[in-house]
Amino acid sequence: MKPYFIQFSFYYEGELGKNRKIFRKVINSMSLAAIVLCAGNGTRMNSNLPKVLHKLAGFPLIHHVMNTVQELGVSKTVIVAGKDIDKVSKVAFDFSNDVIIEKQDKQLGTGHAVQKALPALKDFDGDVIILYGDVPFITPVTINKMLTTKKQGSDIVVLGFEASQAGAYGRVVTNSDKIEKIVEAKDASDTELQIKSCNSGVILTNCKNLTQLVKLLKNNNASKEYYLTDIVAIANSQNQKCSLLLCSEAETMGINTRHELAYAENLFQNRSREKFLDIGVTLASPETTIFSMDTVIGRDTFIGQNVVFEPGVTIETGAIIKPFCHLESCHIGSCAEIGPFAHIRPGTEIGNSARIGNFVETKNAKIGEFSKINHLSYVGDAKTGQKVNIGAGTITCNYDGLNKHITIIEDGAFIGSNSSLVAPLKIEQNSIIAAGSVITKDVPKNSLGIARSDQKNLLGRAKEIMKKLKKNKAKTEKANG
Ligand code: UD1
Ligand code: MG
Repeated sequence: MKPYFIQFSFYYEGELGKNRKIFRKVINSMSLAAIVLCAGNGTRMNSNLPKVLHKLAGFPLIHHVMNTVQELGVSKTVIVAGKDIDKVSKVAFDFSNDVIIEKQDKQLGTGHAVQKALPALKDFDGDVIILYGDVPFITPVTINKMLTTKKQGSDIVVLGFEASQAGAYGRVVTNSDKIEKIVEAKDASDTELQIKSCNSGVILTNCKNLTQLVKLLKNNNASKEYYLTDIVAIANSQNQKCSLLLCSEAETMGINTRHELAYAENLFQNRSREKFLDIGVTLASPETTIFSMDTVIGRDTFIGQNVVFEPGVTIETGAIIKPFCHLESCHIGSCAEIGPFAHIRPGTEIGNSARIGNFVETKNAKIGEFSKINHLSYVGDAKTGQKVNIGAGTITCNYDGLNKHITIIEDGAFIGSNSSLVAPLKIEQNSIIAAGSVITKDVPKNSLGIARSDQKNLLGRAKEIMKKLKKNKAKTEKANG
């Protein structure tokens, strides 16, 4: 996860690291490669966006699969894309540069797509796991089990599941502990359609074996496609052993429609809620908390109602996130308090025990320990020291219409309410800014910065004004009858 992982990686040591379940390598299989099929048309999404770029838990579907592949520690990953190859490549490279993208011009079936991937693996001698870009929940643990099954003497391992509604899934025809063949629903007999064991699409075999098997595929079937699944029957005819490993149906769920995407999102959120409750995070109203795939939260953190975690958020232990906060690509220190109704935008780092109150927006801002921005402020492109107090309505004027500028506020400074801090600007240690000031020049330490017009008190003038107003009003009322 390039953009967020690198940026915040140093926070993952210590307490947080213990809770960090994703992006951790489960195994390191240097003799394993992955092929991820993404060239399908995705027609049923009814979208201009390629299906694998639709987001689940804040990340494109393809990132979920790449994350699994990364955790496995595969030595090579080949992604097969279709007409949308440019868009798919860009998003895939956002996750990792260490992938090869191959094009399948015509969608002639899953077997044909694998044929397109194999030249990129021509010198590779290990095992290959075939995954689908639109099946996001397969875990590295399950793939690890497939690897174990293969090591125990299988040539091909197919990941299957017992479907509650087998529908259009390929049926796995078994004979004792071996698979004889996989039959696509369109081509299945009535008896075969009764089979409950279905093909998830995930297949593991040796690369050289895969290469020779896919060369033998034919398209004499109902769809006139080269089915990858036919490699099982061909392998059997060569006396190879093909095994079935079953996993839960929820894990093999594929996304074909927006309904399925919404269902998968719900599934993901429910699992995340369970996970965070298990590791010691209080969720005041779990069903209203929305997580991203990479959210990291330390123990004894309190999350109020309706909090949304966009990608890239890490929270240290004991923090309090009050209701209706929106957090994006930021780090919240231990025992900090945020919200309610705070918008913590990318690049924000909130120090330990700092306090960000209601209707405060921060962006690319480092807020020091024990500092407070309690109400109605915008703090962007700024860095504050420790124990800084930023009064209500303070705005860092960071943008001149062309460039962004930095505001630095040093330890112990006090910014009076409704101040505009026009960057670039440095407010030194323990200085005070008078409320309502427009500060355009640096303020030396221990100084008072005041920039507002002097107040005049015109004695008795209020009475005169009121008298005049009343007189005018009476005149108008008389004229109108
Ligand atoms: C496939 C399996 C079926 C299994 C089901 C599980 C085959 C022949 N059938 O059927 O046994 O039960 O998945 O979901 O493999 N793709 C390409 N190029 C193509 C065709 C497909 O890259 O020419 C990609 C798609 O983008 C998708 C994956 O392969 O990621 C599966 O294709 P799809 O058309 O959805 O296959 P199913 O009919 O669902
Ligand atoms: Mg499918």
